[in-house]
Amino acid sequence: MIVTPHPDGVDVITSIATIPTIGSIPVNAFVVHGSSPFLVDTGSIVDSDDFMTALRSVIDPGELEWIWLTHTDFDHIGSLHRLLADNPRLRVITSFLGVGIMGLFDPLPMDRVFLVNPGQSVAVGDRTLTAVKPPTFDNPITTGFHDSRTGALFSADCFGAVLEEVPAGAADIPAAALRDGQVFWAAADSSWLHKVDPDAFARDLDSIRAIEPTTIFSAHLPPAPGHMTEQLLDALAAVPSASPFVGPDQAAFEEMLAAMTGPVS
Ligand SMILES: [Fe+2]
Ligand SMILES: [Fe+2]
Repeated sequence: MIVTPHPDGVDVITSIATIPTIGSIPVNAFVVHGSSPFLVDTGSIVDSDDFMTALRSVIDPGELEWIWLTHTDFDHIGSLHRLLADNPRLRVITSFLGVGIMGLFDPLPMDRVFLVNPGQSVAVGDRTLTAVKPPTFDNPITTGFHDSRTGALFSADCFGAVLEEVPAGAADIPAAALRDGQVFWAAADSSWLHKVDPDAFARDLDSIRAIEPTTIFSAHLPPAPGHMTEQLLDALAAVPSASPFVGPDQAAFEEMLAAMTGPVS
């Protein structure tokens, strides 16, 4: 678990998921400091103990009033219930579908959720967070947001990339590696992109352009400064016509396992 402070007053808590023969994917949650500090997502279930240690190194979790839950995938809800149990003031910003899906697993207390739809805003301390539907996502619950105080966009899984190495900032990734890594991730994570009308998708990408984010905080990319927005959108525009992701089949999987552990008996 790595904690990287960002000048926007954000601590980025990162675990790195490594997929043999494919690459590495950062899994980021964010502590946003300010008059009302809040958390964006809560790490992976498998990393919960390490996540809590990393979180406590940058803030007393008892000071948090809100968690913005971008969606309910296992790499985002890892410490959610633990945090709620430890801090009775803490509330979760999510969507109606988020509450519904969590109800099938470990229900969220109804008096501790705050529902937003894209375009709606929530006042958190001295900032306004406006919900944004990112142009790519792997879960219909997905809700990112724009922060009025810093101008940053928190984009959930959108703009993620599979990388050879994960640096502290996206600007340190060579342009070709970033583009290839983004296309690979988006094709695998949002495979429906191959079915979209390219013009309609381009309009969605324009809506991100119009926000002019000062920083993009993706769950699966190191923080990207605003001047990279065009580069990141350009890579996404290539996804609908890129090769679809096809995972290893059983034979390839056994080869992968053999490379790691010896032959499968
Ligand atoms: Fe996801
Ligand atoms: Fe994710």
